[in-house]
Amino acid sequence: MADYQPLKGQKALVTGASSGIGAAVAKALAGAGAAVVVNYVGNPASARQVVSEIHSANGVAVALEADVSQETQVLAMFDAARREFGTLDILVNNAGIQRDSAFTQMTLDQWNQVIATNLTGYFLCAREAAREFLRRGVVPSVSKAAGKIICMSSVHQVIPWAGHVNYAASKGGIMMFMESIAQELAPHRIRVNSIAPGAIKTPINRAAWETPEAEAKLLELIPYGRVGLPEDIARAAVWLASDESDYVVGTTLFVDGGMCLYPGFATGG
Ligand code: BGC
Repeated sequence: MADYQPLKGQKALVTGASSGIGAAVAKALAGAGAAVVVNYVGNPASARQVVSEIHSANGVAVALEADVSQETQVLAMFDAARREFGTLDILVNNAGIQRDSAFTQMTLDQWNQVIATNLTGYFLCAREAAREFLRRGVVPSVSKAAGKIICMSSVHQVIPWAGHVNYAASKGGIMMFMESIAQELAPHRIRVNSIAPGAIKTPINRAAWETPEAEAKLLELIPYGRVGLPEDIARAAVWLASDESDYVVGTTLFVDGGMCLYPGFATGG
């Protein structure tokens, strides 16, 4: 565990934490002192791996399976989390999928799957977390806030994305979802914010960075000149979950190497 422990004594739940950004966030929160629920669906071995890495670093973690798009599974997961840790201080809504297709070829199933996980899943988990934060209230020795919710959005909450309209629509939806509940919950000292990652090396976009040709093409979209790493996002999540960001409410922190800066205009326009 790290010496700097801004989340000491806090309990966190990270959805989709068996790989990619979620796994890095779970490890970083644990390193910062939080006890962490590693949520996963369908891949217990990867979730166990994340938990055992946290244990090896003297952290506290437990893996819980739930499909975040299913209300009964979400309710059961939050009950189990409370049984394990007593309460919850931090939710990282992270579980997300892509089901890409040209618009006119897109099936209703591809549309529904993405909206169900990326948007309905955030609703179901945030609602349960907020209920727990309201029930318990602020515990000053733990945090200045009654609870923190971080939504993993994407640069595609503002950048349109042809061939991925279900995904872009879900992320645009997350933006207004996050801002609306941030407004509603702030008087109760619950802070809700988003992180909008750009291109981060994870399984979801492997094809975009795994060959040198693909990576070179991707870098044309990234002024900072490197593809992001899950740890770039994890560090932002620790900060947003901690009291260091206590006055940060309803904002989206873009962690994208400048992807939103209209890179095409660097030499054009
Ligand atoms: C997507 C990735 C993509 C990145 C930048 C993310 O939200 O999941 O596939 O590489 O946005 O376009």
